[in-house]
This record gives sequence, structure tokens and C-alpha cells, in this order.
Amino acid sequence: MLLLTGATGFLGGSFYLDAVRNGTAADCLLLIRGADEAACRARLATNLNRHSDRATAEAAARLCQILPGDLQSLATSTDPRLDQVTQIVHVAADTSFDSRQSVWEINVDGTLALAGRARRMPHLQRFLHIGTAFCCGEAPHMQMVHEAQAPGHGAPHIAEYTRSKAAAERALAAAFPELPLIVARPSIVVGHTQLGVRPSASIFWFYRLLDRTGILPALPGGHIDIIPVDWASARLHDLLRKPDLKHTLYHVTSGEAARTTWTDFQAGFRAHGHEGTGRPYVHFDYRGPEGWKPFDAAFRAAFPERTLLNRTMAVGARKYHRFVAQDIAFDNSRLLAEGFAPPPRFVDYLGTCLASSDATIGEQFVDDASSFEFDEALMAAPVAA
Ligand SMILES: NC(=O)c1ccc[n+]([C@@H]2O[C@H](COP(=O)([O-])OP(=O)(O)OC[C@H]3O[C@@H](n4cnc5c(N)ncnc54)[C@H](OP(=O)(O)O)[C@@H]3O)[C@@H](O)[C@H]2O)c1
Repeated sequence: MLLLTGATGFLGGSFYLDAVRNGTAADCLLLIRGADEAACRARLATNLNRHSDRATAEAAARLCQILPGDLQSLATSTDPRLDQVTQIVHVAADTSFDSRQSVWEINVDGTLALAGRARRMPHLQRFLHIGTAFCCGEAPHMQMVHEAQAPGHGAPHIAEYTRSKAAAERALAAAFPELPLIVARPSIVVGHTQLGVRPSASIFWFYRLLDRTGILPALPGGHIDIIPVDWASARLHDLLRKPDLKHTLYHVTSGEAARTTWTDFQAGFRAHGHEGTGRPYVHFDYRGPEGWKPFDAAFRAAFPERTLLNRTMAVGARKYHRFVAQDIAFDNSRLLAEGFAPPPRFVDYLGTCLASSDATIGEQFVDDASSFEFDEALMAAPVAA
């Protein structure tokens, strides 16, 4: 039996649908937060519905077994099905960029609760933990990052989220050396090669905003590491099933060959007719004397209304721009050397993403808004200048 966490999220939902397609869904036990099994199944179906029609999603959600609860509850769970688990795929996390406390409670304490229960699973063969490539911390102009142990607590991070993910990896390695642990670190998961942004517009709104504002805190020859969710979840299945992996830590990333240069990025948006302010983009350096002023001016020109939504979106965009300014990509040669399929380039499925939705940038931002403490109920409320 396979224990999967995070199936109501973006990557976990895609992973579960792969299991439906490859005929192993009935063998999956999904940990889902909810009052009871029916409520959890309904939450799962709602998420899968973003990938398919309602009837298909509901049928897929009926195939698996459900364990209602959160990660923390696993420490004391006496559910006998946990004793039958042979594989764990731990996708669940608090991915909020603003949270200070809950990222530690869920990403570290929750992961350790799962690991504590895993230690008592007599048949466990593999524990696939999903980290993030950005657990390496913030550094100016890193070109190509290779897999290495997550840095210590004092390393600089843009978001407490990535610091907590680094801490989770270190804690797992230190406290549970006997677990059959494999760590997979995705880079930036955006869209789906066939469905575009229907499953989630997470982060895609930001790339559209970048093109709309026409201002970039990196040089055009720089690059970014973006992967689609369907390629990422397929590689998690590969990492789960290949018996003789050469390493215990893998980047699931675009790497050298499939990384996206900003030159290709803006050419892609232009080719698909996206409404941009001006290309080539203007370069700005938020660490320079003008700070964020050039971005703020470009943002106000593109999004003149002073709504709560726009203000929250500006906060989110600033945060993502700090990631952009690192000019970073993550080497994936370990993954490819295992014989797994290479990633597509973002610009090769950008058109599918754009065509899959007629939502505005602001409407797409709502997929990520909870990461920036935005209250959807207040969306329409105007904010005084
Ligand atoms: N998306 C990316 O670009 C990206 C990049 C690198 C790494 N990753 C990693 O990939 C994984 C999935 O990311 P994602 O984008 O798919 O995240 P997501 O859409 O925010 O989904 C998070 C999932 O975790 C579940 N969860 C949160 N707290 C939980 C708890 N205490 N107990 C049980 N389940 C809990 C959520 O359940 P609810 O529905 O109940 O909230 C949801 O199913 C994470 O580990 C993340 O760090 C993601």
C-alpha cells in the first residue's frame, strides 16, 4: 500500500491522477484533512475536477482509500492500514510565503510525525519526501546549483517556507537515518503541458504580471528553472518505483538544457499575443539606490486600481522577483542519468497555459493569494490610497 499526503494540492493531485492512470489508485491510502471520509473524498474530487470533468473526478476520488486527518495526527494514529504501507510519498506542506509559525508546525513537526509513524511500519520500502530546490537559500547570482545537503538554520532565505523545508530535510536525516528515504526537490512548478493552468494558476499569474509590467530584476541572458506539474509528478513515480537508484537526493528541475532564458521567455509571450507593456523588458535592481521604485511605478501603470487584490498582488510579485533576481537553475543530471524522461521547456507549453484560461492576472493570482495573507472575501473592497 502507498501512503500519499497532499493529494488535495497541485502536485499531489497530479501524482494521484497518474496512479489512477497506471492502475495503482486502489492501492493508495490518502491522508486528507477533513471531518470524515466523505468530506475528504469530496475535497479530493473538487481538486481532481480541475484536471478533468466532474464525473471523471468523482470516479477517480472513489478508487483510493482515505485516512482523514492531518500530518500531526499520524504520530498517534492506530489505523491498522498504516501497518500495511510499503511506500510513502510525502507531498503535503504549508507552501505559504507569509507564514512564520505554521510552516514550522506542518513542514517540520508534521514531517517528523509522519517519519515517527513510518519508523513503525514493518513493510516500508521507500519514503519519498518532496522538498524544494530553493532550500539552498538566497544568494546573488548563483548560476547552476547542484544537489547538496540543505544548509543550516542561519543561511539567508527569502521566505520562512524554504527555511522550514531545509530544516525538515536536515531533521529527517539526523533523526531517522534508518528510514529508506529518497528526497526529490522540484524547482518551480507551473502549469500542465496538456491542461495549461486549469489544475492551478499558481505562479503563472506572476509570469504574466512580469510580461505585463515589462520590468525584470535580472538580465535578459539570465534564466529561470520552471517545470510543468505533469512532468514533475511523473518523475516522482519514477523515483518511487526504480529499485536501484544511485542517489538519495534528486533535483526534479529543468536543469541546463530546459531552463528558460528571459530572452526566450519574452519572445514566447510575444509569440502568443500576450498583452505586454514593452519588450525587451527594462532591467531594475531592487538592491540598488532606487530600490523597488521602478517596479512599483511599472506595477501602478499596469494595475492602476488601488484594490486590496492589487496591493496584495504587488507584495507577492516583489517576493517572487527576489527569486527571479537570483538568476538560478538547478542541475538535473542525476535525474536524467537514471534514464527518466527529460523536462519540456516552459516556452514549449506556454501557449497551452495562456489558451487554457481567459481569467485576468488578478483572477489567476487568487490561486496563490492565501500565500500572501489575502482574504478573498475582501477582494472587491477598495483600499484608500
Ligand atoms: N508548487 C511548486 O512550485 C513547488 C516547488 C518546489 C517544491 N514544492 C513542494 O511540492 C509539494 C507540493 O506543493 P504544492 O504546490 O502542490 O502545494 P499545495 O498545492 O499548497 O498543496 C499542499 C498540500 O498539502 C496539504 N497539507 C498542508 N498541511 C497539511 C497538514 N498539516 N496535514 C496534511 N496535509 C496537509 C494540503 O492539504 P489541504 O488541501 O487540506 O490544505 C494540500 O493537499 C510541497 O512539499 C512543496 O514544498 C512545490
